Amino acid sequence: MTHTSRRRKLPLRKRIEVADEDGWTHITTSGVSAHRAIQPRDYKLLPAEPPLRLTIDELKKQYETHRQRWRSSSAGDALDSVLRSRAASSVGSIDRIICIGLGSPSGFVRGGWVDRRSVSLYQLAALESVIEFLAGPSIDATVKQVLAQDPVFNDLDKELLHFLGITVVDHPAAFDLVNDQTFLYCPGAEILHLTKLLPYNPALLLGGPLESVSSENGVLAAFAQTRNSLQLPPFEPNQHAFWNTRLYWKEDAHRSQNVPCDK
Ligand SMILES: C[S@@+](CC[C@H](N)C(=O)[O-])C[C@H]1O[C@@H](n2cnc3c(N)ncnc32)[C@H](O)[C@@H]1O
Repeated sequence: MTHTSRRRKLPLRKRIEVADEDGWTHITTSGVSAHRAIQPRDYKLLPAEPPLRLTIDELKKQYETHRQRWRSSSAGDALDSVLRSRAASSVGSIDRIICIGLGSPSGFVRGGWVDRRSVSLYQLAALESVIEFLAGPSIDATVKQVLAQDPVFNDLDKELLHFLGITVVDHPAAFDLVNDQTFLYCPGAEILHLTKLLPYNPALLLGGPLESVSSENGVLAAFAQTRNSLQLPPFEPNQHAFWNTRLYWKEDAHRSQNVPCDK
C-alpha cells in the first residue's frame, strides 16, 4: 500500500548575510524581512524591546555577572593600568564622562533583529570601572557629570543607568557638551558620530580603532596623530564588546606612540 499523506515540502528560504550602514551584519532569510534588513533606514532608532518578563532586578543580576567578568579580565586590568600610569596627565583634566552609543543592555534593537545586550552590558561594566577609577582618592580629576546618550535606551536601561549614577540625556545634549575636558566613552561607536565629536578634542577617548578608517577620514586621522593610544587585550568573554578598542590620550612629548596590548 502506498503512503499518500506525504508531507508538503516547504519552499527553502535562503539565508543571507546583510551589512547595514552602521557596519552591523545580520543573518536573515530572503523575503519581506530581508528586504527590511537591507534597507536600514526602515529601522527607526526606537527604544529597544526587552524580553517580556525581564524585571529591573533580573537585569541588575545580569549586569552583575558581566561586571564580575569584566573586573577579572586582562582587558579590565590593562585599562586600569594605562589610566593610572601613561594617561595620567589626561586623566587629571577630566570633568565630564560622556558615553555615546552604548546600545541597549536589556533589549533587542532594529525591530528585534539585533541582540547586542551582552556587548552593551560589558561596555557598561567597563564604564562603571572608569567612573570608579576617576572618583578614586589619588586621582586629581573632579568629575561633575557622567552622561549617556543613545536613542535605543528603554525604561529598564534608564533605570539601570540611573542606579549606576549615570544621567541619560536625549540627542543632541551630549554631543553639545564634548570638550577638551571630556572622557569620551564610545566603544563600537558609529564613524559618523566620531567624525562629529573628535574635532572638540576630548582629552580621553575609549573607542575606535581609528587607524583602520583614518586613511579615508581626515578628522579621525588628525585625532589619532595627536594622541598616544593603547589597544586593549582581547576580552575573552565576548570579543565583540571591545574589538580592537583603544584608549587614546593626549601625548605629552609631542610624539605619537601607539602601542599594541602586548608591548
Ligand atoms: C554601531 S552601534 C554600537 C552599539 C554598541 N556600543 C555596540 O558596540 O554594539 C551604534 C549605537 O549608536 C546609537 N546612536 C545612534 N544615534 C545616536 C545618537 N544621536 N546619540 C547617541 N547614540 C546614537 C545607536 O542606537 C547604536 O546603539
